[in-house]
Amino acid sequence: MTQRPYNFSAGPAAIPEEVLQQAAAEMLNWNGSGMGVMEMSHRGKEFMSIAAQAEADLRELLAVPAHFRILFMQGGGLAENAIVPMNLSRGGTVDFVVTGSWSQKSAKEARKYAAPVVIANNEADGHTSLPPPASWQLSADAKYVHICSNETIHGVEFHELPDLDALGSQAPLVIDFSSHVASRPVDWSRVGLAFGGAQKNLGPAGVTLVVVREDLLGHALSICPSAFDYRVVADNASMYNTPPTYSIYMAGLVFQWLKRQKEGDFTGIAAMEARNLAKATLLYNFIDRSQFYVNKVAMDCRSRMNVPFFLRDESRNEAFLAGAKERGLLQLKGHKSVGGMRASIYNAMPLAGVQALLDYMRDFEKTCA
Ligand SMILES: Cc1ncc(COP(=O)(O)O)c(C=O)c1O
Repeated sequence: MTQRPYNFSAGPAAIPEEVLQQAAAEMLNWNGSGMGVMEMSHRGKEFMSIAAQAEADLRELLAVPAHFRILFMQGGGLAENAIVPMNLSRGGTVDFVVTGSWSQKSAKEARKYAAPVVIANNEADGHTSLPPPASWQLSADAKYVHICSNETIHGVEFHELPDLDALGSQAPLVIDFSSHVASRPVDWSRVGLAFGGAQKNLGPAGVTLVVVREDLLGHALSICPSAFDYRVVADNASMYNTPPTYSIYMAGLVFQWLKRQKEGDFTGIAAMEARNLAKATLLYNFIDRSQFYVNKVAMDCRSRMNVPFFLRDESRNEAFLAGAKERGLLQLKGHKSVGGMRASIYNAMPLAGVQALLDYMRDFEKTCA
């Protein structure tokens, strides 16, 4: 089979080719059932086994402790911006660390249900750094503290999650890990709730992953729709309403693919972390050595998933993108609020894809000399 183009989309994003092949092979007849997965009752034994396997595989991959529930919901990250405060805030104070567009949106949405306080932000430097946790003005009565652990648009990532306990806060930490879930291990001892849409690192759009500590269930505001009440969703094993069955199946195939991944002595998520670090290092080192391209994010918080970069001469942007497309390097255009380019190098992007991008960037620079 011919090589598919390398797809650098920020999301919906590339899915491992092996997974797409398997889904294609199983499209008309899953596992001898005579049905495609899209045609199955969510309450039938076939789909129940698919969902149970997906959940078990994810729990194993991300080492999710037993006192956390795994929920498969709908509505994406933006719906969670409302669902989290409806479930956790009790209408009170909630703290936000604003580090880019996504955490900013989260703080704004929370105003409808709670009293958000922005306790730190990086607006002054155009969202290119991370305010150190020791500088956060944590509210004594906060019901939770929200961060976006990887800002997809600005390319800013927490390489380590903040330890709220060490900062003297008992509030649970809520992380929006939409764009780096499954790219590295999660320290669950620091997390109360994590949420993320699937369409970057877990599969197709349509399913939203929520991992929530058991003690945070059961506190939803009375206005919270039942289908969005974490207690109800958990008690019904994510099947209170019809779940996005095909997206769950696809995510399950991605989890099995992740379990098969090896990198040196590492397997699964540890292998992904090693590979992602290698890919990101290669790309950032190249950009930093260049006089032609530039990345503006502080070194200590550069995203390993989303790499925004600029041509110093922005008049060449269109030519750069057109040439990239010709070379089979797709969807490199930066987000409209930031401009320039963005290479999203999620789990499904092999090292060879990043090398192909560097080859192109080098060649393009030469054509401009
Ligand atoms: C970090 C982050 N949070 C939230 C969202 C919004 O997700 P959705 O469009 O699934 O609601 C995105 C989408 O790109 C994102 O990158």
